[in-house]
Amino acid sequence: MTNFSWPQVDGLAYGGDYNPEQWPRETWREDVALMREAGVNLVSVGIFSWAMLEPREGEYDFSWMDELLDLLHEHGIAADLATPTVAPPAWFYANHPDARVIDKDGLVVGPGSRGMASHSHPAYQEACVRISRRLAERYADHPAVVMWHVHNEYGVPVGEDYSPAAVAAWREWLKARYGSLDGLNQAWGTMFWGQVYGEWEHVGAPAKTATTGNPAQQLDFMRFTDDQLRACFSREKAAIREFATQPVTTNFMAHQSWNCDLWKWAELVDVVADDHYLWAPDPEAHVALALSADLTRSVARGRPWILMEHSTSAVNWQGRNVAKRPGEMRRNALTHLGRGADAIMFFQWRASRSGAEKFHSAMVPHAGPRSRVFREVVELGGHLADLAPVKGSEVRAEAAVLYDWESLWAQDLEWRPSDDVQFRERMRAFYERLWRDNVTVDFALPTHDLSAYKLVVAPASYLLTKDGAENLTRYVEGGGTLLVNFFSGIVDENEAVHAGGFLAPLKDALGVTVEEFLPLREGEGASVRWARGEETLLPADVWQEDIQLHGAEVVAEHISGPGAGKPAVTRHERGAGVGWYVGTRLDVRSLAPVFEAAYADAGIVPDRLPEDLEVVTRHGDGEDFVVAVNHADAPARLPLAGTDLLTGAVADGDLEIPAGGVAVVRRPGGAIA
Ligand code: GAL
Repeated sequence: MTNFSWPQVDGLAYGGDYNPEQWPRETWREDVALMREAGVNLVSVGIFSWAMLEPREGEYDFSWMDELLDLLHEHGIAADLATPTVAPPAWFYANHPDARVIDKDGLVVGPGSRGMASHSHPAYQEACVRISRRLAERYADHPAVVMWHVHNEYGVPVGEDYSPAAVAAWREWLKARYGSLDGLNQAWGTMFWGQVYGEWEHVGAPAKTATTGNPAQQLDFMRFTDDQLRACFSREKAAIREFATQPVTTNFMAHQSWNCDLWKWAELVDVVADDHYLWAPDPEAHVALALSADLTRSVARGRPWILMEHSTSAVNWQGRNVAKRPGEMRRNALTHLGRGADAIMFFQWRASRSGAEKFHSAMVPHAGPRSRVFREVVELGGHLADLAPVKGSEVRAEAAVLYDWESLWAQDLEWRPSDDVQFRERMRAFYERLWRDNVTVDFALPTHDLSAYKLVVAPASYLLTKDGAENLTRYVEGGGTLLVNFFSGIVDENEAVHAGGFLAPLKDALGVTVEEFLPLREGEGASVRWARGEETLLPADVWQEDIQLHGAEVVAEHISGPGAGKPAVTRHERGAGVGWYVGTRLDVRSLAPVFEAAYADAGIVPDRLPEDLEVVTRHGDGEDFVVAVNHADAPARLPLAGTDLLTGAVADGDLEIPAGGVAVVRRPGGAIA
């Protein structure tokens, strides 16, 4: 981030999206009283209010927003004021029909829901700047406004746009990137299937084609889309900055986002904000939550961040919307806090009676304040008040996991060696291994300075640039331990296989290359013989390959399948460091011995804690805050001395955390035990 600045709220921020335009005035008054009761000090307003703020093009009505901001301020509640550009009014579509988005299949995306218009159409761009400027001009000095919330979740529900406006902008983007058609033809490898372009006007967006389209073109289109979305954000931020000085943010979706390269986005916002929702089919969704929180903190480069949205209970948009059980919301919220969030917010304050989201939970549910959920909301508000000393403290990590959106975009294109190899699945498995071992991680790009980390893990670095590979090699030579999963180091930034073959750029660091992929059939299982220390058989599936050794030692080999007898896991000493390579799909359990051996090389000694006890530490000035979350059905014990800020209880070296409970222990700076 270029300019880090935190909204002016006392202590930790607590609140949620507030959409009072859906309610009569007496409900507003009840709302602010209930907010006070719950300890709410920050609400996001105006996110979907364009039609109410500008009822006809160029005609504004700010009276209700004036009244709302005054009311909030009178009650000591700060506002995170949104630009409403994610939901253009009906008049916008009527007045500018050619600014509508066209999807990949050529279908026009109409009004009646929400989602931006064409990111590349001047009418949409101008309308966004106009409403943002008007809001900033009017409310820059309003004492309630402590932050600006630009748009909502860029990239969803609208990301890629195939409209004529977008295609015209795309051609300009390509001209700037490649300079000449020769450059473009070269980068996209258009000699393949005779796709060579002779005129810029012939270059289209990668819309529907007879069969698989050009992968380099598709990857560039993702880059273009991300650039266009960021340009939309920057235009609105600049409009706000003409008048206002408060921090400006927009809400990301970390591991759940697709279109936005958050490493780049985080450079543009004054403070990072993230939304996270549990995915009900995942029985261990709290692990995905931790991943998302760590990823958010990492793109924020370790600075405190805002959990802008999560849910008090069920969402409404999954197949089966599972309600959170008592205590779960607290565990979720405080896990985010443990992993660096200094603001805990929800979607939304009061459940909507009408519209698409009426079955979504809220801080004030349809059942009203006399409800379990509201009681837990009030209790959480009390906890956050007690946790104010945590504000500004930081999380430190000895290990880093490589996470590159460009590699995600490229890897998940069509016609890969196996449908069973997925970026997010591998990311989760490797992260979960570290989570279960209680090793706190940051995320990083392959090109980042990694020298502070003892261990760097690459679960899915399919696209790896020469620069990235050289940086990783230097990292190993300088004494680092690198652990790389299969299907990494395959293509360069143009989606072209690296000269020298698969994994060639990491040959020096890992001491191996890959001659041929040997993917398994659907459902086919296999095992590898682990021959380091105690010999064991580890279940494996999905993938084998023909690994060529260039100095690495074989640590495990396949005992069945097309790769029988060939290396499955290797270890290579290079310079002062070690490069590990995993050439098959190992699940979280099978990964355990691999990680254990890599920890030993890296000099990491994981805390051996009870299964399902999640512990993460925030480091303050001379004191630590240990956040311990017990996900198990039984109490857990932690060897820890200090004061639990949630209960006031003093632990003398043996802290019991009840089943499903949380403790936040303040103690002098130091190690866990
Ligand atoms: C978010 C969105 C909110 C609300 C929420 C429901 O993605 O930003 O406006 O729709 O989902 O879970």
